[in-house]
Amino acid sequence: DRITWDIADAELGDYRHFMEKEIFEQPAALENAMRGRFAEDGSTALFGGLNLTPAELRQVDRLVFLGCGTAWHACLVAEHLIERFARVPVEVDYASEFRYRNTPLDRDTLFFVMSQSGETIDTLGALREAKRKGFKVLAINNTVGSSIARESDGGIYQHVGPEIGVASTKAFTSQLLLGAIIALYIARMRDMSFNDGVEYVKAVKSAPALVRRVLEQAPRIREIAKRYAHYKDMLFLGRLSLFPIALEGALKLKEISYIHAEGYPAAEMKHGPIALVSPECPAVFFAPRGEIFNKLVSSIQEIKARHGKTIVITTEGCELPPGVADEIIYLPDCHEAVLPVVATIPVQLLSYYIAVERGCDVDKPRNLAKSVTVE
Ligand code: G6P
Repeated sequence: DRITWDIADAELGDYRHFMEKEIFEQPAALENAMRGRFAEDGSTALFGGLNLTPAELRQVDRLVFLGCGTAWHACLVAEHLIERFARVPVEVDYASEFRYRNTPLDRDTLFFVMSQSGETIDTLGALREAKRKGFKVLAINNTVGSSIARESDGGIYQHVGPEIGVASTKAFTSQLLLGAIIALYIARMRDMSFNDGVEYVKAVKSAPALVRRVLEQAPRIREIAKRYAHYKDMLFLGRLSLFPIALEGALKLKEISYIHAEGYPAAEMKHGPIALVSPECPAVFFAPRGEIFNKLVSSIQEIKARHGKTIVITTEGCELPPGVADEIIYLPDCHEAVLPVVATIPVQLLSYYIAVERGCDVDKPRNLAKSVTVE
């Protein structure tokens, strides 16, 4: 036999797919994304590239975040964390919708666009539209020198290295982490105390170790995936900062395994998707420790009452009533700022292993492109 070799195989190392490699390199990717981003006093962030003085940033009274696909989910998490910790109103829009929507905007609005590639045409179009209206636009972007990096007024590089798998993984979690650090930065200019800032910084710095702990559960998640790979439909449900992670879980599964999946805020289930629940439609449920844990448990019980299978992602030490979970995946207990990052890992692994089990071409899913440069 002729031995074939190419650079892409070499770079894969012991991994079968780039998606797998990129999932497992997330602890290092997150370290890179946050390197140099904290002030010496350990209570706030440092962003050298925003090209805004603290006084200018203090003037901002509304933020708009724009992106497409997975990046749009990262924008939704940033909205949650910024509103929660910095108390500044945030609006999120699909870049493709924003560019034609002609939304009324206040003067003191600052724009952020999120894009791994920096070449997505809808995001670039939205950036140009916001700039045309006279607004400053900052970019959160992984590709140095990309069109979006060049045309924005400043921004933050993700620094996670090239992402080759079409389904975004490490780029997404680094966008989540940077969103959390932006929330901290703005919060510390407003009402967040020094001590709360210190605690927040510690939490963000612990993200790589927390992610590593979830990755250690990969063999178990792979076993779960084998039991769920034959389904045709799946629901992903979560609330608050994990609602966008439910959307992301559903998107990952659709993209690479071609299983129809829907993400929903868990409490909205009763307004429609509950009609889908049956033994043929399992649900992945985020039910972490927190104020609404009991509400989440009752939503899971609604599914069980209709004989739906449930994969519950909860926090270590949380007690679920007997019989509500067919499968349980535990997350380490963590600060709200990093919960979305930590909670993303199980759904990445689940969709990856399900797709492998179904024999799908994980790195090159049908009909999808890594970067969409046409409208
Ligand atoms: C494509 C990719 C998605 C990605 C989206 C936005 O649709 O398949 O994975 O989330 O573009 O890409 P960007 O490079 O702007 O983050």
